[in-house]
Amino acid sequence: KITKMTSSGSATGPHALFVTAPYQGHFAPAVDLAINLAARGFVVTFACTEAFQHQRTASGASSADHRDVFAGARSRGLDIRYELVSDGLPVSFDRHSHPEQFYSALLHLLPSHVDELIRKLLLSEAPVDFILTDTFFSWASTLAKNHGLPCVSFWTKPALVFTLYYHMDLLIANGHFASPENRKDTITYIPGIPAIETTDLASYLRETDTTTPLQQMIARSFEEVKRCDFVLANTVQELEEETIAVLQQEQPFYAVGPVFPDGFTGGTVMTSLWPESDCSSWLDSMPPSSVLYVSFGSIASVSKKDFEEIAYGVLNSKANFVWVLRPGSSSSGAANPLPQGFLEASRERGMVVPWCRQREVLQHPAVGAFLTHCGWNSVAESMWCGVPMLCFPLFSDQPPNRKLVVENLGIGMDLGEIGEVSRGKVSSRIDDLMGGEGGAELRRKMKEVKKAVQGAVAPHGSSQKNLDHFTADLLGLLS
Ligand code: UDX
Repeated sequence: KITKMTSSGSATGPHALFVTAPYQGHFAPAVDLAINLAARGFVVTFACTEAFQHQRTASGASSADHRDVFAGARSRGLDIRYELVSDGLPVSFDRHSHPEQFYSALLHLLPSHVDELIRKLLLSEAPVDFILTDTFFSWASTLAKNHGLPCVSFWTKPALVFTLYYHMDLLIANGHFASPENRKDTITYIPGIPAIETTDLASYLRETDTTTPLQQMIARSFEEVKRCDFVLANTVQELEEETIAVLQQEQPFYAVGPVFPDGFTGGTVMTSLWPESDCSSWLDSMPPSSVLYVSFGSIASVSKKDFEEIAYGVLNSKANFVWVLRPGSSSSGAANPLPQGFLEASRERGMVVPWCRQREVLQHPAVGAFLTHCGWNSVAESMWCGVPMLCFPLFSDQPPNRKLVVENLGIGMDLGEIGEVSRGKVSSRIDDLMGGEGGAELRRKMKEVKKAVQGAVAPHGSSQKNLDHFTADLLGLLS
């Protein structure tokens, strides 16, 4: 256990104020990292926005008593406290329908509420020692430095994506930032990334309107992160060796992922946003590696046309399937966006659920492949389980995540760009992935990747060692 000495001479772990971003895909790994740090002796005050907590409790996925989030972890002796902060808007405000106001609040209103919390914690019996925030908070290091505290940034995605944002200035100088959709060429000037196609850039780097609060938040975040003392990233050193080595010349950057608590499927912390359907008995009844798992994560929406092509592709393939049909996962707006007759035609071989325990599903021996939007948590979980992917990225970091999966690591196939999907391609790719030669090659590479990912978090693995180094460096800074 790591310790620092307090002024009264007693030993305690350093106290982190961890402010997480109000999104499922950021909240879950942040919870995991908080538990990891607490298990190492850190004291963690974990803060999330009231509105996000409200969304979690209202969805029925979480206990009405928000302080239960870490109850299991606390019962094991971990010192994790839970705080809610206002993002400056009323809790009942419809953030989903007014994203501009929401991002504006995260940019301009949330920091003063976090500032208040820091002041409160500095006066408490265990004053906070450093600030740990999601990289997308554009005010983190300024706020920390105002209080004379070190700032640690938590990057929930791969180093490849971090590097792209980090070098936004180079993309601007070369005319690739906010470039029109039709510009398609290869970028070779980003340090640590030998080559990347413009179609593989994060969508926010291609967005032509750079004046929106979201775009401003991203641009400012990546100026801000350069002033942070340390960056912890939810990635694995062995998977991104070159990119990470080049980044480390700029800033202390530690690959500490994938951060999964309590073993892979967890149990003590409820991080899911929605109630989960149980797919286990159905999966038990299916032959090994015969099931395609289909999910587009918690935010992204597939266009009506692409959704229909994918649905017919799945139907025309030979695969059994579990399909997560979260409300809003198709932009069609229909309560059931699947083509007419789909459910009847696939009754014997398919299960459609609104949400499931994805980690358990991916780990089930019946699952042979994952049709994914390439959200980073989904990719990390698929690698952990050794399940090859069929990639259909939609926005944000998903396109560069696909590049990592398909091109760099060779553990997935590409389904094509938005608007270009055809049912014929979908079914032939699924069949090749699950039963053909293409799939066999991917599975061979996936075995190595799975070993690297699981090895990284095993005792003496690279992520454990990097967390040790971070801890030692932080204690050095605090002493
Ligand atoms: C968002 C962004 O879209 C993504 O690009 C970014 O990398 C993280 O933030 P999201 O779309 O939710 O995330 O995708 P992803 O990162 O894959 O996270 C989804 C999480 O929800 C995973 O941990 C997955 O296990 C979980 N999940 C998904 C379930 O528990 N049940 C489901 O039915 C579907």
